[in-house]
Amino acid sequence: MTSSPTYAIEAKGLVKRFGDKTALHGVDFAVPAGTVTAVLGPNGAGKTTAVRILTTLSSADAGTAKVAGFDVASQGTQVRRRIGLTAQEATVDGLLTGRENLQMLGELHHLGKAEASKRADQLLEDFSLSDSGDRLARDYSGGMRRRLDLAATIVARPEVLFLDEPTTGLDPRARAELWDVLDQLVGRGTTLMLTTQYLEEAERLADDIVVIDHGRVIAQGDSRELKRRVGGDQLQVVVREAAQLEHAAKILGRGANAEVQVDEGSRSATVPTRSGVAALAAVSVALADAGIEVDDLGMRQPTLDEVFLTLTGSPVENAEELQEATR
Ligand SMILES: Nc1ncnc2c1ncn2[C@@H]1O[C@H](COP(=O)(O)OP(=O)(O)OP(=O)(O)O)[C@@H](O)[C@H]1O
Ligand SMILES: [Mg+2]
Repeated sequence: MTSSPTYAIEAKGLVKRFGDKTALHGVDFAVPAGTVTAVLGPNGAGKTTAVRILTTLSSADAGTAKVAGFDVASQGTQVRRRIGLTAQEATVDGLLTGRENLQMLGELHHLGKAEASKRADQLLEDFSLSDSGDRLARDYSGGMRRRLDLAATIVARPEVLFLDEPTTGLDPRARAELWDVLDQLVGRGTTLMLTTQYLEEAERLADDIVVIDHGRVIAQGDSRELKRRVGGDQLQVVVREAAQLEHAAKILGRGANAEVQVDEGSRSATVPTRSGVAALAAVSVALADAGIEVDDLGMRQPTLDEVFLTLTGSPVENAEELQEATR
């Protein structure tokens, strides 16, 4: 008998090399059962490489990993029985309908015809796909396709779910719909590890965030801890008249203990804030009192670029990708 693991995913010192390129330089993290962890990082950080090792599709050159209590290297079959993976590339068959895809997967997982059909109906309903269930998957929109991918992944009710960039390329509405679906799944106790390039997505979904860059974990914690490290929310004002930008920046800077960033091109001034909505209200009143016309005033999150700038001292590097693209 296996005791139930405290951690659904446990990675220790994972190293992966591709020729002379090291994609993972000793990555450690642990995901408690029933929680959500987001692996956040830019293109080429090593996210897919880590997911492939944890889902037994690839093997590490050093280090160990356990998923659902089983070793990914020596107990692959047990691991595969307990996990689901929605890969970065779509996994469903475009030449089948949504319903046929789910039905087929159910039968592959030995649910039996009647049970597989019931499960397909239920999943189409849960993922708001009932109306399009009988259309070919290749004719689905990007958002519908991602929802179908996800439904296909959970046909067999996996304990641990891996999603590799589930919302990349989706518009904001499709992204929000997918997030809602993921909330339901997590509410039912599924452990979830997802990768993403969006800080906003990691914050929205994850209990814990693991930031990776160039194959190394550079920060780890819940979103509050992480945001504290990168300076938290920011207050931003966009003024109507460029001539009033400097005055607005001065007002924004009152009581702030960080420098106000002024961008003349977008007529905006931005400053980190810790007091959130209270600061927003105070600034709003002060701007009005000063007779400054405002196009936009609000709180914004630091971008992934800003997180990386703070954590690594350098912006997200695209040089490597550029080189590869022009080769
Ligand atoms: N099969 C492979 N052969 C050679 N190099 C590889 C291979 N797979 C990944 N790499 C390299 O390893 C590094 C990490 O790649 P990986 O795909 O894990 O990044 P990622 O974080 O998933 O990026 P993205 O956000 O673009 O999906 C990259 O430099 C990539 O070029
Ligand atoms: Mg990837």
